[in-house]
Amino acid sequence: MKTQVCIIGAGPAGLLLGHLLRAEGVDCVVLERKSPDYVLGRIRAGVLEQITVSLMERLGLDARLKAEGLPHDGFNLADGERLIRIDIAELTGKHVVVYGQTELTRDLMDAREERGLQVIYDADDVTLHDVAGDAPFVTYTKDGTEHRVDARFIAGCDGFHGPSRKAVPASVGQEYEREYPFGWLGILADVPPCNHELIYANHERGFALASMRSETRSRYYIDVPLTEKVENWPDERLWDELAIRLGPQAAAHITRGPSLEKSIAPLRSYVFAPMRHGSLLLCGDAAHIVPPTGAKGLNLAASDVFYAARALTGFFRANDNDAIAAYSDTALSRVWKAERFSWSLTRLMHRFPQDGSFERAMQVAELDYISTSRAAQTSIAENYVGLPV
Ligand code: FAD
Ligand code: DHB
Repeated sequence: MKTQVCIIGAGPAGLLLGHLLRAEGVDCVVLERKSPDYVLGRIRAGVLEQITVSLMERLGLDARLKAEGLPHDGFNLADGERLIRIDIAELTGKHVVVYGQTELTRDLMDAREERGLQVIYDADDVTLHDVAGDAPFVTYTKDGTEHRVDARFIAGCDGFHGPSRKAVPASVGQEYEREYPFGWLGILADVPPCNHELIYANHERGFALASMRSETRSRYYIDVPLTEKVENWPDERLWDELAIRLGPQAAAHITRGPSLEKSIAPLRSYVFAPMRHGSLLLCGDAAHIVPPTGAKGLNLAASDVFYAARALTGFFRANDNDAIAAYSDTALSRVWKAERFSWSLTRLMHRFPQDGSFERAMQVAELDYISTSRAAQTSIAENYVGLPV
């Protein structure tokens, strides 16, 4: 098979890029290792920035997002009894939208046929070849038969564990990494949220987050040691812990219910640079990971895809190589700022095992400062709502 862009991975980054390229008349094919149901079964991000919403709008695939997404004008930082509201709408004139990654992925999947986007699911042994030059190709097997896709570009949208990043020689790429001594244990349940806005809480027993997917579906997280197992957290124990960490005010409004999903995700900061090598462009988790505090992961994938689609479209429409050459620097400039914000909010809202009284005093001082300074709140708000692309 011959195409202009071979996209690896049909998560949000790969599907968004595929649709944006098809909308501009660029040929592409998407290769995905898993089945559609498996991809939809992953419960991940829940908060969309303007860039993500506007890409769905531009594609005309935002009908459900508009109807079912919950616009949020603010969120809260809790520390003990204190609740600091960050009024993002008032401070920035913008808002975020609560709409699950699963729903966004479903909208993109459902539009495949109508938009002529070819996605090959259950593609095994996806391997990239000759990415340094201008005639790269990808091989994969499906139902026991080997296939080959020749392309002008390859877009690596295959997440943190995919093969794309590994196709860049070690002598070319540099890794920047920070691991954290905990993971987030998340629960999804069909119960009304305890608060109409998100609450990120720093409690002496650890971090907690109250989030939601709709008026009737809640998503909560607590941080746990990396060694912790989900089996040790029957629903009741998790609800008890959430009630303690979120504080008495929120706890009074928690509705308990059976978990639809429960899992632990490790926290990591990671950047791989450059994000382009020859004819290979990396997008989303394939190139970088942020800890989830701040809800940046999915939104960063969307901004990468915005830059990549613009560069690839310019190349095929106008033979313009400049945006391709600039892709890595352009994307990384936004990535590093989101890395900084996610890292600093993680630092502010979690109790690190190695921290002593000084580090805790720094947290309290920073939260004090935030609670009284409009400038500090504006800085948090503009990062949370998403920096300009
Ligand atoms: P992915 O969603 O990982 O998609 C990559 C796709 O590539 C997958 O479908 C995968 O099957 C496919 N693939 C992998 N290997 C191959 C291969 N060899 N061949 C073909 N296809 C392949 N962000 C938040 O903001 N909030 C959260 O609460 C949150 N929770 C998360 C929980 C977990 C467990 C993880 C892993 C991430 C979480 N994130 C969260 C981050 C956010 O979900 C990601 O940033 C987002 O999914 C990135 O999208 P992507 O398309 O780049 O990567
Ligand atoms: C959710 C996840 C996040 O990482 C976050 O910062 C806010 C909300 C969520 O899954 O709802």
